[in-house]
Amino acid sequence: MANNLLAGKRGVIFGALDEKSIAWKVALKCVEEGAKITLTNAPVALRMGKINELAEACNTEVIAADATSMEDLENLFTKSQEILGGKLDFVLHSIGMSINVRKKKAYTDTNYDWMHKTFDISAMSFHRMMQVLWKQDAVNDWGSILGLTYIASQRTFPDYGEMAESKALLESFARSFGYHFGEAKKIRVNTISQSPTMTTAGSGVSGFDEFFGYADKMSPLGNAPAEACADYCVALFSDFTRYVTMQNLYHDGGFSNMGMSPKVIEG
Ligand SMILES: NC(=O)c1ccc[n+]([C@@H]2O[C@H](COP(=O)([O-])OP(=O)(O)OC[C@H]3O[C@@H](n4cnc5c(N)ncnc54)[C@H](O)[C@@H]3O)[C@@H](O)[C@H]2O)c1
Repeated sequence: MANNLLAGKRGVIFGALDEKSIAWKVALKCVEEGAKITLTNAPVALRMGKINELAEACNTEVIAADATSMEDLENLFTKSQEILGGKLDFVLHSIGMSINVRKKKAYTDTNYDWMHKTFDISAMSFHRMMQVLWKQDAVNDWGSILGLTYIASQRTFPDYGEMAESKALLESFARSFGYHFGEAKKIRVNTISQSPTMTTAGSGVSGFDEFFGYADKMSPLGNAPAEACADYCVALFSDFTRYVTMQNLYHDGGFSNMGMSPKVIEG
């Protein structure tokens, strides 16, 4: 049920690859709630993914941008403002990729070139994106910037590999840039720490299916689905959360505050 929570707002959504992507659901919800958006993803993802279908459903355009390229990001935000007819009100960073995890390299045998690339794609891209938005003065006062993260930033989940450090960095960038954006323009910056979710990035982690079941049992409300994550993103883009900033917000059915659940012991 749409409530026009984002009526008149303009946004950019990173990271929709296919209909399982969290960003895919966020894009649809934002449009349903009255926003105008542009979509973006890496050039290779545009060739492999189905983002043009989403663009059609959202009545919008796709602008290719590798999130590790300043030039691409500058072009993306310039073009988005032209297409949408003004400054932005919200931006979603929904990007994650680890080369060591993808290639099943043990954490104790990490390849550092790959680790650099992982940090660049999964975390520094958030800083880059915000720096370009800052320099272009591309976001309206009281705007909202969001990144997606995972609890492995704070607790150890061995199969998550170097993505744990990527997420710790991402969350820290939200706090640090959140200060500057808040002081200068009342713009908020937060991260949402989402439950395990069946997507391309999620299921790339080994043992993901078993872990998904474990997390579901550990969470009193069960794992939060991608659609519910999209609802939460809309709430954080809306004017109803104007004083929430520099936070890492758990959207995980209660998982983060559990110690043990009888459901897990009972099997
Ligand atoms: N799936 C989960 O279990 C889960 C849980 C918590 C947080 N998250 C986070 O949610 C976000 C979205 O992931 P998802 O689960 O929807 O998976 P997904 O695979 O659908 O999305 C990841 C996206 O990152 C994009 N990407 C990769 N390299 C890029 C680059 N160089 N430039 C621009 N884009 C690039 C991919 O093309 C893809 O669209 C990620 O930050 C992920 O870490 C996922």
